[in-house]
Amino acid sequence: MLITFEGIEGCGKSTQAKLLHEFLAAHGYDAVLTREPGWGRLGELIRTLILEEREVELDPVSELCLFCADRAQHVKDFISPCLKDGKIVICDRYFDSTVVYQGYGRRLDMRFVNKAAKASTLGTVPELTFLLNLPVRKGLSRLRGRGDITKMDEEPLEFHELIRQGYMVVARREPERIIKINADRSVEDIHGDIKSIVLSRLS
Ligand SMILES: Nc1ncnc2c1ncn2[C@@H]1O[C@H](COP(=O)(O)OP(=O)(O)OP(=O)(O)O)[C@@H](O)[C@H]1O
Ligand SMILES: [Mg+2]
Repeated sequence: MLITFEGIEGCGKSTQAKLLHEFLAAHGYDAVLTREPGWGRLGELIRTLILEEREVELDPVSELCLFCADRAQHVKDFISPCLKDGKIVICDRYFDSTVVYQGYGRRLDMRFVNKAAKASTLGTVPELTFLLNLPVRKGLSRLRGRGDITKMDEEPLEFHELIRQGYMVVARREPERIIKINADRSVEDIHGDIKSIVLSRLS
């Protein structure tokens, strides 16, 4: 089973993905935690290019292709083999991020972005996606608390608003898969909801 976490910068994806992983592992499930972009050697190079390299101003099409390259390799070399072994794979960001950031954020042609994002999954679609919903200002202020700011975090407020709205559109299209979670609560309350939804899907 593939479970993904989505949402704006600072909404708590990594925090909740880690807690879910710990919870499942503690209850005897064979679960692995991974993230995008940045798996493996290719992923590391791509992650640095997209999120840290400040000399290259990436064209949005280049950016889209880099995210897709990262994902295809991640699926082929890691996610897919894990799923074949019967593991639960928890992934911090996945193809919905590409649809939303490159389609709604960068305003690339939606059909092109959708096709590229879908293709980059090599047919591996998540069974469950948690969309952590938080006002943009709150997400960005949480990030300031955390430090570790990437290029994406420095985009203007309007960009992050487009992302949040884009996620809402995507979630409305697939209410069975994409579960919206109010992320403007304590870490424990959010984890409690996520835990019970995952357990009910597993049983
Ligand atoms: N429910 C919460 N309430 C308050 N602070 C939180 C909550 N969840 C996470 N945080 C804190 O907010 C910051 C951002 O959380 P986290 O790194 O999990 O977000 P993220 O969605 O993974 O961010 P990014 O998009 O940068 O990867 C961290 O400092 C984290 O400890
Ligand atoms: Mg994170």
